[in-house]
Amino acid sequence: MRFLVTGGAGFIGSNFVRLLVRKYPDAEIVVLDKLTYAGRMENLRDVQNNIIFIHGDICKIDDIAKAGPCDVLFNFAAETHVDRSISEPDLFVRTDVLGTCNLLNYAIKQDISRYIQISTDEVYGSIRSGSFHETDLLDPSSPYSASKAAAEHLVHSYYKTYGLPVITTRSSNNFGPYQYPEKLIPVLILKALSRQPLPLYGTGLNVRDWLHVDDNCTGIDTAYAKGSPGQIYNIGAGNEKTNLEIARIILHSLNMNEDLITFVADRAGHDFRYSIATEKIRELGWQPSHSFDESIKMTIDWYLKNEWWWKPLL
Ligand SMILES: NC(=O)c1ccc[n+]([C@@H]2O[C@H](COP(=O)([O-])OP(=O)(O)OC[C@H]3O[C@@H](n4cnc5c(N)ncnc54)[C@H](O)[C@@H]3O)[C@@H](O)[C@H]2O)c1
Repeated sequence: MRFLVTGGAGFIGSNFVRLLVRKYPDAEIVVLDKLTYAGRMENLRDVQNNIIFIHGDICKIDDIAKAGPCDVLFNFAAETHVDRSISEPDLFVRTDVLGTCNLLNYAIKQDISRYIQISTDEVYGSIRSGSFHETDLLDPSSPYSASKAAAEHLVHSYYKTYGLPVITTRSSNNFGPYQYPEKLIPVLILKALSRQPLPLYGTGLNVRDWLHVDDNCTGIDTAYAKGSPGQIYNIGAGNEKTNLEIARIILHSLNMNEDLITFVADRAGHDFRYSIATEKIRELGWQPSHSFDESIKMTIDWYLKNEWWWKPLL
């Protein structure tokens, strides 16, 4: 078995590579990554002897060809930060849409058994009450989520047109080790550790559904191993929290008071609430194995113990 993991040097991708190394010890694991600011070899330090690493760009067909033939392709490669997508939308269209198209063209020339597209619950847009199901219409709000939605449509079109055995996962907000300190939870942890103000958009009442990255990785593996071609699987743990609650939980865990919380001008097009129904992935036998309280403690502890990893990034 030969796995190709694009974007495997990023936050979720590198944690997923660790799962593959543990779970499929006889497989060959090829990681193709452009090593943008978000992708770092440090993220793969403990598994570097278990993988074949290719420094390459999914926007370049010749770079993808360097991966050679593979049986299964997991596409994690993407530009992922909503704020950056507002200031630089073209880059998101190039990587997330055209890059995906290049991978699909590569995949149809191979005899691959699965193409797994890693997508996001942000493609649904915001929901005031209830939860989105996989069959709901997509209504993305940011250039990031619009690019991910466009990529999904392309992926599904390759299933219908070329019979490519694709599976798409849409997970909620992830957190855990190796998350770049531009995303909410690592930003708040590192600001608190350096006793700087913890910035929250608007009123801080926007709601996100939090998922430990290891639980997303087991969900993606479940979708790959047990899911059906052409299907989409939401992956979420049902941990809905406001951003304000997250800031308070982090400060309390570090025995700090709430004076450090500051409110800043809201993000343009800011989705108020994300919520997804996850019966479909649970029917395949998946469930999260970490509670939110345990996961946030583990994550704070990881950042406390791994200053070598984040210090150079600040
Ligand atoms: N982080 C989340 O909460 C979350 C939630 C749902 C879905 N997702 C999706 O999961 C995937 C991984 O997210 P993440 O948070 O790990 O992102 P990340 O930003 O940490 O990592 C992205 C990785 O992709 C690589 N990359 C970027 N452009 C590339 C290109 N042109 N060619 C090759 N590699 C390239 C980067 O170097 C990096 O290693 C993304 O597709 C994202 O949309 C993320």
